[in-house]
Order: sequence, then structure tokens, then C-alpha cells
Amino acid sequence: MTRRIFVTTALPYANGPFHIGHIMEYIQADIWVRFQRMQGHQLHFIGADDAHGAPIMLKAEAEGVTPQELVARIAAGRPRYLEGFHLSFDHWYSTDSPENTQLSQDIYRRLKSAGLIYRKSVEQFYDPVKGMFLPDRYIKGECPNCHAKDQYADACEVCSIVNTPTELIEPYSTLTGAKPVLKSSEHFFFKLSDRKCVDFLEGWLGAAGRLQPQVANKASEWLAGKGDQTLGDWDISRDAPYFGIPIPDAPGKYFYVWLDAPIGYLAALKSYFDLGKARAHGEQRSFEEFLSAPDTEQIHFIGKDIIYFHTLFWPAMLKFAGTPYKVPSHVWVHGFITVSGEKMSKSRGTGISPLRYLEVGMNAEWLRYYIAAKLNASVEDLDFNPEDFIARVNSDLIGKYVNIASRAANFITRHFQGALRYTGDLAALRSAARAAADAAREGYETREYGRVMRECMSFADSINQYFDGERPWVLAKDPSQAAHLQDVCSRALYGFKVLSVLLAPVLPHLAERVARELFGLERAFVWADATVLPERINPYQHLMTRVEGRQLDALFDDSPTGAAAATATIRSAPVNAPGTSAPGTAPPGTTAAGTISIDEFRRIDLRVARIIEAEAVAGADKLLRLTLDLGNEQRTVFAGIKSAYDPAALKGRLTVMVANLAPRKMKFGVSEGMVLAASGEDPGVYLLAPDSGATPGMKVT
Ligand code: 2FM
Ligand code: ZN
Repeated sequence: MTRRIFVTTALPYANGPFHIGHIMEYIQADIWVRFQRMQGHQLHFIGADDAHGAPIMLKAEAEGVTPQELVARIAAGRPRYLEGFHLSFDHWYSTDSPENTQLSQDIYRRLKSAGLIYRKSVEQFYDPVKGMFLPDRYIKGECPNCHAKDQYADACEVCSIVNTPTELIEPYSTLTGAKPVLKSSEHFFFKLSDRKCVDFLEGWLGAAGRLQPQVANKASEWLAGKGDQTLGDWDISRDAPYFGIPIPDAPGKYFYVWLDAPIGYLAALKSYFDLGKARAHGEQRSFEEFLSAPDTEQIHFIGKDIIYFHTLFWPAMLKFAGTPYKVPSHVWVHGFITVSGEKMSKSRGTGISPLRYLEVGMNAEWLRYYIAAKLNASVEDLDFNPEDFIARVNSDLIGKYVNIASRAANFITRHFQGALRYTGDLAALRSAARAAADAAREGYETREYGRVMRECMSFADSINQYFDGERPWVLAKDPSQAAHLQDVCSRALYGFKVLSVLLAPVLPHLAERVARELFGLERAFVWADATVLPERINPYQHLMTRVEGRQLDALFDDSPTGAAAATATIRSAPVNAPGTSAPGTAPPGTTAAGTISIDEFRRIDLRVARIIEAEAVAGADKLLRLTLDLGNEQRTVFAGIKSAYDPAALKGRLTVMVANLAPRKMKFGVSEGMVLAASGEDPGVYLLAPDSGATPGMKVT
């Protein structure tokens, strides 16, 4: 029976490029989606940008653009990643859309009619200079417990105590420095504590097989008011100014971004239907008919940090909004990705830059394989370890898998003009192939990809052992053994075909080349191809290169050159001085004379920054670690200015930094931008500084 499945990944905030955690999640979901498509099921794989909320509004304001312009710029960068990592989303949309406005307002009205919305006055900090209520992340002050200065309320960095913003001593707004005042305002609440919500969620969470057991347990604890989150009614409104969807009949009130974000899954699906894209995938029904059909599966892949929203609020909202809305079939949760054991920051996305991965010429399928090999159905974290990465790619993909084809195909081409012929009993071969395919099917279905990869590699081992044991290079020298040689190589190539089919969800590009180029199919593999013995092959063409250590070095770039790059030096020699730019060698995007356009210059986000900490870096001769205040955030930058500055003298100084440089992982930590300094032929480095009056965060244009 054909399954009809709608799959989503968590919608990324549209305030920055994808980080490796996003790519890992998309790869996990993409493997599952491709596997299902290969089974002949109808899949609709949907993504979108999560566009709303205060941080995006404030970031846009700081950049001097509208939130819509910021979101459009970020969206324009998405295809590069999606195509680069072979992520087969059928549609990518945005929560800032008419469909999302319509659906969010519709769901809100239905919840209101169900008696699940109420209003209550809430007292909150307000920045009188900025004229807005302050989300907690924009309030700092002195910790009432340990008296450390400049602490956020949610967790003091020094004593770890959790405060509320109103408990902070001498609180200040990080947006303006102003002292916030308490002000009340009417907020809208979703009554999650209502008995009917709680009863429904108890049943929903308890249904066998719906969620991973540890996820269901955690959510059930929250529901019962135990554990680290207490369940209360949910504040779903924010006051203007806010970039969001207006609440009907409530001027100046907007839906909190987390209300409209998951509805964005449905809005993106609706847009996909309305554009006729679903029809192109064999779905003739309307969006509403599809969504409400009992056999439609709605599956969300998410990270473990957003379980709360997806397993409590989201199903309850859908349930009580009623038809055509339907509760999710499954919410599949994964852990975080760490890099060499270090946790990465979600907001800054340090660790591995996915774009850099592609730019240094690394093969996306290496990463897809590596992630698959380390993923299972649990919520455990996954570690990217460079040495392990090299070993797995080279020994598994090249040494075990690709190797089979490159060795066996040459005999068949040279001695048998591409013809495969099997002699003797094929029952064992067929049953081994069927068993491998069945085990892989079960493993992919249950997201036990690591197990599938291990089983595939052990299948590859058995083929290689068989091949080596038959010593085809000896058989090839004896004409009387020709039929035997052909049989041995044909069996090995059938094994290679089986493996290519089973690995196709993980290595889609490679497997399609194998299908078309080697086996001469006019299409990509489908699952059933695993049990069809091939009869011919075309000459083997090189399939995949080994990963080299220097590529990992380039990815992490903690070399001395990389360290130096953390400080942009403005040299006294003119950039287009004779001899510095040979004709015809101008980099892409520059003119022959070495100039750049104003638009190219504008892409560089130069900001005034205050150096709030400066310290030497143990083990680094030239570097200082600078902590820079950008007005609404802090950054760490490693700068090669140690020879010229006493760290103590830098504290409090203003300088200029490149704020939109991709984070670089260096030996000593991650550098999140660079400061500008001048230098010439003579020794000396001179930090740039703005004139008095400039304040942190100001844009330099
Ligand atoms: O945590 C996040 O990155 C959110 N933007 C995820 C939203 S998922 C869904 F609800 F849209
Ligand atoms: Zn403290």
C-alpha cells in the first residue's frame, strides 16, 4: 500500500546561514525521505525559514534593512547548501507568508472558540528609550546571589543560579543601556492546563510507537509538572513593535514567534499544494483533503532542544483546532552534533562551517555517509571527529565499497566485453541479497542508520573476501578458467549493485551514477533493483576519491595563516598598486583593475565594537583573545596584534570589526569575526578606532 507522508525538519531562524547542526538534521530526514521514495511511497518533504520574532526584527534594524529584506537575503543563500548536500526538499518556504497568516489566525480563532484562549495582564520590563518590551535575552544586571555584574537572568555565568529579570540588581537593557521599567500589558494565553488538553496529551504521549520512549517520558514528566520545566499556560502574544503575525481583533498584538513557527509547516505545505507541486508528485487532492485524510502521515524531525514545543503545545493546538488539522503522526528527535567532543553554540553555529566544507572541495556524500554511520534512533549526541571521519570514509566507502566495482569491473570489461554471466547455484547469493535488503529496510524505517551502514560494510567485507579468495588475477591468466572468472566477477558486481541500492538514500548522487553509468539504467535505483541480477556493465569510471588530511586542515583552518586572517590589515600600499594585480588574474567579482562594486562592499558588515576583554592566548605568540561588545551581542575574536598592544590598554576601547565573517575554528577556540588594523612596510600594527560619539553595534558604511 502506498503511504502518503508529509515530512518536515525544524524551521531554521532566518537570521543567519545554516550551521552544521541544521545540515545534520536535514541529512537525517533526507535519508529517510529518499528511502521511502525508493519504496514507491508518496513523499512531500517540506522546509521553510522561521522568519518572525524580536531577534530578527532587531538584527534587521541594526543592519538598516527591513526584516523582510533580511529574511529574503538569508533565504537567497539557502539553495547553495540544499543543493550542495543533496537535500531533496520538495519545497522551501517562509513563515512570513500570507498562507501562514491565514492559517495562524484560523487556528487561533478555533482555539478561542474552543475556550482555550484567555487574556491576562502581565508586568514586564520595558525599555523606555527603545520603546519596546524587552525579551529576557536583552536584559542584564548584577546577580543577586553572587553579585557578578553583567549577567543574564536565565542563568548566572558565575554561580549558575536562575533568576528572573526583575530580581537582577541594577538591570539594564542591552539594546540601549537604559534602565528598564516595569510596565503592564495585556497578553493572550493558550490554556494548556485545561483538563481536556491534559487528558488529550496524556493519551497522545502514551500511544505506543508515536515518540521515542525517552522523548515521551520527558514530555509526560513536564505534563505532570515534574522535571526541569513546569507546565503552565502559554503566553502566545507579544506587543508591538514586533515582527510577526497580527492577532485578529487585537491592535498592536502579535503572535509570539513560537505560535506561528510550527504552523509554518502547514503554511509551507499549503503553498506547495497551491503551486501545483503536490500534483507533480502524484497527489491530486487539495491541501485540506490531504491534510485531514486519516492515512496521511505527518512527521516532524527536530532537535532535542525543542521537544517541549513539538510534543505539548503543537499537538494540543492541532487537536483543538479541529479538522482539517490533525495531530502529528510522529515527532522524531535527534541529539546535537559536537565537534571533537565540543558542544557548539546554536545561535553562532561554530564548529564546522557547512559552506566552508563545500568551498574547500569536500564531497558532500562523505559527510552524509559519516553522519549516517553515526546516527541511530536515540537522542544521543553525535560527534564529528576529523580522524574518525577520514578513517570511515577511506576505509569504508573507498576501501570496502567502491573498491569492489573498480576491481571486478575491469576484468569483465577486458575479458568479457561487459557481459555478466553467473554459473552454478544462485540461491545463496539471492538469499544473501534479500536478507541484506530486508535488514536495511527495517534499519532505515526505524532510523537506525548506523546499523544499516555497519551491515552494508560487513556485506562489502564478505564480497571482498570472496573475491580475494577466488584470486581472479590468477584465474585471468588461465583461459580454461574464463567462465569461472566471469562468474566470480559477476557475483561481486551483483553484490556491488545490491550495496549501491541499499546505500542510495545516503549516497544519492554516487548511486545514481552507478545506476546510469555502470549498469546502464536510464533512471536512479529503486529498492526492488536490489533483487535483480544485472546482465551487463559499462566500463568502470572513477567513482569517488579518498579524503585527505589536508582537506580537514583546510576545513578547520587552525593553521598560522588562518590565525593571521582573524585580523584584517589595511596595508599602506594601494590595493591596486602596479604589480599587485596581474591582468586577467582578478578574483571573481572584481574588475580587471582590482576594484569592487558598492554592492560587494556592502556585503561586508562592518560594526563598531567595544573591546571588553583582552588577554594573551597561552601557546600563541602573536594572538590576543578579544571579547567584543556589539551592542546586542558579544563576540570572541582572535587577533594577531599581541606584538603591538598591552591587553590591559585595549580594554574599553572602541574599534571596528567585520561582523558577518563566518566563524573560524582555530587551535585556541573559535574566532567570530575580525578586527581591522592598519600596517605598512615598517613594523607596527594599528587598530582602527571610530571618532568619539560612535557606540557599539553602529554600522560602518
Ligand atoms: O529552534 C529553532 O531554531 C526554531 N526556529 C525552530 C522552529 S521549528 C518549527 F516550529 F517551526
Ligand atoms: Zn551569580
